[in-house]
Formats: sequence, structure tokens, C-alpha cells
Amino acid sequence: MKNEKLLDIQNLSVSFKTKRGFLKAVNNASLTIHENESVALIGESGCGKTTLSTSIVDILPLGAMITDGKILYKDVDEKVLNLLELKKSKLRTLLWSKIAMMFQASQSSFNPVKKIRMDFIDTVKAHKPRMSEREIIKRSEELLKMVMLDANLVLNSYPHELSGGMKQRALLALSLLLEPKLIILDEPTTALDLLTQEKIVVLLNELKQQYGFSYLFITHDLSIVSELADVVVTMYAGRIIEKSPVKEFFKNTKHPYSLGLIKAIPKLSLDHTELFSIPGSPPDLVEDTIGCPFAPRCDRRLNRCSLEMPNMIPADNPHHEYACWNPNNGD
Ligand SMILES: Nc1ncnc2c1ncn2[C@@H]1O[C@H](COP(=O)(O)OP(=O)(O)OP(=O)(O)O)[C@@H](O)[C@H]1O
Ligand SMILES: [Mg+2]
Repeated sequence: MKNEKLLDIQNLSVSFKTKRGFLKAVNNASLTIHENESVALIGESGCGKTTLSTSIVDILPLGAMITDGKILYKDVDEKVLNLLELKKSKLRTLLWSKIAMMFQASQSSFNPVKKIRMDFIDTVKAHKPRMSEREIIKRSEELLKMVMLDANLVLNSYPHELSGGMKQRALLALSLLLEPKLIILDEPTTALDLLTQEKIVVLLNELKQQYGFSYLFITHDLSIVSELADVVVTMYAGRIIEKSPVKEFFKNTKHPYSLGLIKAIPKLSLDHTELFSIPGSPPDLVEDTIGCPFAPRCDRRLNRCSLEMPNMIPADNPHHEYACWNPNNGD
């Protein structure tokens, strides 16, 4: 039995206005995140993962427009809100306290001229005015320790004094302080060394068990997917092309593109590292595609594939869906 729906993205389309025309970064994407579920969003660079997730938290870059769709969020008292229609002030409160986003490594949300300590206090006070400074610091210290940081050092540093990986973990601690329902993590482990990566994955899993958060996490690392995700969602050229429970995804992959991503996981054998990469490159998202956008690169391509865009259809497992005319059946 699945838990209740927490976030339900329906037919979302996002375009960027560019000199060459409209670039369709997200194209008719639908995605559901249930309570206490962790969803991994995978796909090559430029396929729309960050654009999709920043649409949820209303921080799309300048020039981006949501041209279609709904983002439904189940708030307290079972009230379902369309985030795209909420007043900005209401949306802000909801986003900070219920939905937290951690950005890709290069970005940071800390105020550059404040010590981290003050940023923690100000942020928490804005959302939990009744929490005392002492309490905030005490909780911050606990959470910073949980993300394996030296709490005292971090709280007394300016953001530029910390490494990218440290900032990211400090931000994770800060989001946890607000006890959100959904945490969006854009490549949470890329800036970290392998050992820390592994520890963060274990920690995220524990936190999910303990607090019942949901995660939407974006990653290029499929080994993290198998450890942390309940559901895997593959994006290609702005579209969602496969959604599946994690075990089923690896065991019974349907879309040839998902299969390519799995094949591209480096395999360490005794004498060498085998590397596979999907030949070709993704299409230009300014141009309209008639058929399946993956067809030109696909080794299972049929004539139909270049003529007609396949819709998402269910596999044998009803929670598993894919968009392909000639899916992999283990043949
Ligand atoms: N500010 C922008 N202006 C114009 N186009 C943009 C902008 N940001 C992203 N794009 C385009 O939108 C598409 C989707 O980009 P997005 O950053 O969402 O991809 P991504 O899957 O997150 O990639 P990565 O794995 O490299 O982070 C790409 O074609 C990108 O070039
Ligand atoms: Mg990105």
C-alpha cells in the first residue's frame, strides 16, 4: 500500500526564452511523491532535472516560464493547494517550513556577510518565532553533528570559510531544523568524497525513517539511487520517460535510455574499468521533435519511433510506467 500523495506534479511544462526561440526545458512532466517516499530523478546533463525541481520551490531563473500544469501539495488538514496559484507570501511561508531545497554544489543559500550561527538563528526565528536562541543553537549543534560537521567550527564560520561539501551539509542541517515534509536535494553528494558520500546516504535514510520526510533527489550516481530511492524517475530531453519502484527499475528496465544509464555505471573489474556511454547527444530543446526524442540514439528504434511520440503506459507492475514503442523485455 502506498502512503498518501504529498506532492503531485501534473503535466508541467517550463520554457526558457532564448535568442533562438523557446527552449522547452520541461515538457508535460507528471510526477507524484508520496509521504515518506524518496524519489530519484535521473538523466544526463541538460535534461531538465534542476528546472523541474526549482519549479516546485518557485526559484526558476529569469527567462523561465511555466507554460502549463499544476503542482499540487497536500497541506495540513488534507487541504490540497496548487503551488502555482498560491499568493507569493503564503507560498514563501509554506516553502520554507514544509518544502526545503538544497542546490547543486556550486550554489549556496547562506548569507555571505553573516556567520553561519546568525543565519541559522535568523532563518529559524522567521519560521518558528517561539523557539529561543538557546534552543535553536542547541538543536543546530545536534543536527550539525548528525551531518558529521564540527558544530562549533561551522557556527562560527563565514560561508566562504567552508568547503562546498561542508556548506551543503550545513544547509541540510538547517533545513532539518525546520522539520520540512519534503526535501529536494539537487546532487547532494557530488561535492563530497566517497566516504562522506556513503555516510550522507546512510544518514538520509535514517532521517527518513525517523522523521518520515519525503525526498526528491537528483543524482548522476546510480549506486546512490539503489541505496536511497523508493522510486526512480528517468528524464530525457525535458520529458519523463520512465517511472518505477527501485527494485523493478534495475531488474526490469523498460526504456532503452534508462538501460543505457544503467550500463554507463562504471564497473570495476580486476584488471580494468569498463566504461560505456550512450552514443550521440540529446536533441536541441528549441526544435520541436515529432517522434521519440531518444530515437536517433536508440539501438531498439523502429520506424514508428521517429514518427510518433510514445505516451507513458503501465508495465506489468502497475506502479511501473514507461514511454517507448519497443521496450526492453530482456530480449
Ligand atoms: N537560465 C537558463 N536560460 C536558458 N536555458 C536554460 C537556463 N537554465 C537551464 N537552461 C536549459 O534548460 C535545459 C534543462 O536544464 P537543467 O539545468 O534543468 O538540466 P539538468 O538536468 O539539471 O542538468 P545537469 O545535470 O547538468 O544539472 C538545458 O537545455 C539548459 O541548457
Ligand atoms: Mg541540474
